Amino acid sequence: MIPVSRPHFAADEEAAVVAALRSGWVTQGPRVAEFERAFAAALGQPEAIAVSSCTAGLHLVLHALGIGRGDEVVVPSLSFIATANAVAHTGATPVFADIELATYNLDPASAATAISRRTKAIVLVHQVGLPADVAAFRRLARKARVKLVEDAACAIGSQVDGRPVGRDAAVAVFSFHPRKLVTTGEGGMIVTRDRRLATRLRSLRHHGVSMSDFARHAAGRVVVEAYREVGYNYRMTDVQAAMGLVQLGRLEEFVARRREQGERYDRAFAKHPALAIPQVPANVRFNYQTYLLRLLRGARVSRDTLMQRLLEQEIATRRGVMAAHREPAYRRLKRRVPLPATDAADRTAIVLPLFHAMTPAEQDRVIEAVLALV
Ligand SMILES: Cc1ncc(COP(=O)(O)O)c(C=O)c1O
Repeated sequence: MIPVSRPHFAADEEAAVVAALRSGWVTQGPRVAEFERAFAAALGQPEAIAVSSCTAGLHLVLHALGIGRGDEVVVPSLSFIATANAVAHTGATPVFADIELATYNLDPASAATAISRRTKAIVLVHQVGLPADVAAFRRLARKARVKLVEDAACAIGSQVDGRPVGRDAAVAVFSFHPRKLVTTGEGGMIVTRDRRLATRLRSLRHHGVSMSDFARHAAGRVVVEAYREVGYNYRMTDVQAAMGLVQLGRLEEFVARRREQGERYDRAFAKHPALAIPQVPANVRFNYQTYLLRLLRGARVSRDTLMQRLLEQEIATRRGVMAAHREPAYRRLKRRVPLPATDAADRTAIVLPLFHAMTPAEQDRVIEAVLALV
């Protein structure tokens, strides 16, 4: 069976994890701080805050921005359910806006229509790792006087005009879930320019504590911590950070490999009249985190039939990206704006296998199978 994805380890993770385990620091130790420094440096942001997942990071950021019950946050419906869930966790209401089909990213015109007097923020997702048009959303957020939070779960290693996604963000959150290019098992990282926000986020991820365990132990005198506000346990462990440090050091290698594989799929499918490949703007370096292919009118099979036929040939696929407004958890929400592009992507997109260790022969098998069926 060819899986959809498989985490890739560079072989040095094992030694790093064992060293972390032997160090006695399980959580809130030196490796978390080191991973934060390395991540901030890689992105060119002053602050990086490690958390237990991207979902936790998004929730923490929205909470720290003062978003809660009675507020609205505009999000794309076409996203992993975590984007909407992070909003719902604060008590606020996610308001779904449509995407542009070519890139699967939020449509600024649709997002503008979704904004109301209650809107406090927009969560802009860099869907499947393909960078969204941040400049357009920065203008929209400024005009509407709402916060802009970037969900960069899939976008590590992607760039716009040579600048990494997240470098210019007011606040962005990344994921280290095993499907991502860089993984820590589970984990996430918030980056921000706002040092006060960063301090608050570090406290909130550890129950609202006044100082980290690491700082307390390093103090050389007795310091009693205080719990200033109700926070969460959204900590990353030192063991995860040890893994993340190794993985982050290999990022360029991981991205190069993924791009080579992604572009190979592009070349194979670009000319087929019933297939749409992801549209990558000229100034963008796409990390090909996820390969999303869309079936167009004229395809000989439906998306679901294609998935079934591929499975019968031992090729695993996934339905594209979910449309949150169609999931039972959110179906009851009133729809403020039409979502035709989201609905089209929901019906017709498919995720093909793509992972670091995938061989050219495996990729050829997927390509031939798809072309024979579509
Ligand atoms: C767009 C998006 N947001 C958020 C998440 C959640 O990330 P995590 O699993 O680290 O919580 C994902 C996970 O795939 C995602 O794709």
